[in-house]
Amino acid sequence: MLNQAVYDELIAKFEATYGKKPQVVSYAPGRIEVLGNHTDYNEGYVFSTAINYGTFFAIVPNDLGVNRVTAGDLMHTVTFPLEGAKPVTEDTWANYVIGTVAGLAKIKPQTAGFDGMFLGNVPMGFGLSSSAALEMCTAKAVCGLYGIEADNVTLAKVGQAAEHDYAGCSCGLLDQISSLCGAYGKLVKTDFRTLKVETVDMGPNVCFLMCNPHAKHALVDGQYNSRRKACEEAAAYFAKVLSHPVRALRDVSMAEWEAYSNGLDEVVAKRAAHPIGEDERVLKGAKLLAAGDLAAFGQLLFDSHESSRVMFENSCKELDDVVEITKSVPGVLGARLSGGGFGGSVVVMVNARDAETAAQAIASAYAKKTGGAPCEVSRIQPSQGACLV
Ligand code: GLA
Repeated sequence: MLNQAVYDELIAKFEATYGKKPQVVSYAPGRIEVLGNHTDYNEGYVFSTAINYGTFFAIVPNDLGVNRVTAGDLMHTVTFPLEGAKPVTEDTWANYVIGTVAGLAKIKPQTAGFDGMFLGNVPMGFGLSSSAALEMCTAKAVCGLYGIEADNVTLAKVGQAAEHDYAGCSCGLLDQISSLCGAYGKLVKTDFRTLKVETVDMGPNVCFLMCNPHAKHALVDGQYNSRRKACEEAAAYFAKVLSHPVRALRDVSMAEWEAYSNGLDEVVAKRAAHPIGEDERVLKGAKLLAAGDLAAFGQLLFDSHESSRVMFENSCKELDDVVEITKSVPGVLGARLSGGGFGGSVVVMVNARDAETAAQAIASAYAKKTGGAPCEVSRIQPSQGACLV
């Protein structure tokens, strides 16, 4: 089993804490966003993968009339009511669990409490969506325990609502869908209008490196939310000036942006260009993958980063430096920031046979460039999605 050691540690800690065995155990992975940045909430397209790191959630009913959840790494327990649980301001990790449980209770009200514990190994601060992994393993475990029938889209929306209402981030559905729908060796291609998900074989010759320069940036959620607002403002403008229906930026082409964006505030126009261009890159990328042209697909990652840097301004110097460095590393096919931006990591698509040497070359070139600050590199294998164990 993937991440067996984490599972074993969780079960031992669970039994020591609650004095009984779990009835249900679930698992959900983190994700990387490969191509299609800030397109999900604009009803566009994304290529992503579930990763080989994730979180397990163990659960058993209790007769206390409350829910208890323990973070298996911190060994802190938070207790919350079966109905009407509010976000907490201490131990804020619990908000992902509380919000998810509250969302599921709308589908089937809870009649008895549970004791739960989670433990994972998603590297923190890499932008690998450890929060979505936590939401989705919580969801799978709670559904398993109470016999709640819910499809992946429903579960993803429950996780998204937990982010919006309990964690304060107006995210799209990308992270949750990727965590649920991943498959070994595959990219997940999602249409965020129809919520149709396909998996696309990448073949054995490529893999990903996540390069984390440990850029610390404040107000990340505020920046994310402000980008989302700008996109919505632009979509409302295009709906007025274009003769066809526009519900979201997904409905606007780059040619239309070029013809009409001068009627928009300059900054809002720049923001809008990014998801519009990203949608076009994802669709082009799908054709390139089908044709086996990995080199041209990789170039789209570089183009995506450039659009983030210049138009969406959700990059930062540290991420830009890493991307620049990768351009002269043998075996690298493409690189870009992955996820919300303003920090986090660069995803590097690399020929599998060159992965080790490329990882070392990137880490040492970054240290040299910045005068010693390390860039942490983690090799990622596209892997299975969330499941019951
Ligand atoms: C974060 C959000 C996602 C998505 C990406 C950017 O990961 O949680 O919903 O918007 O940023 O593509």
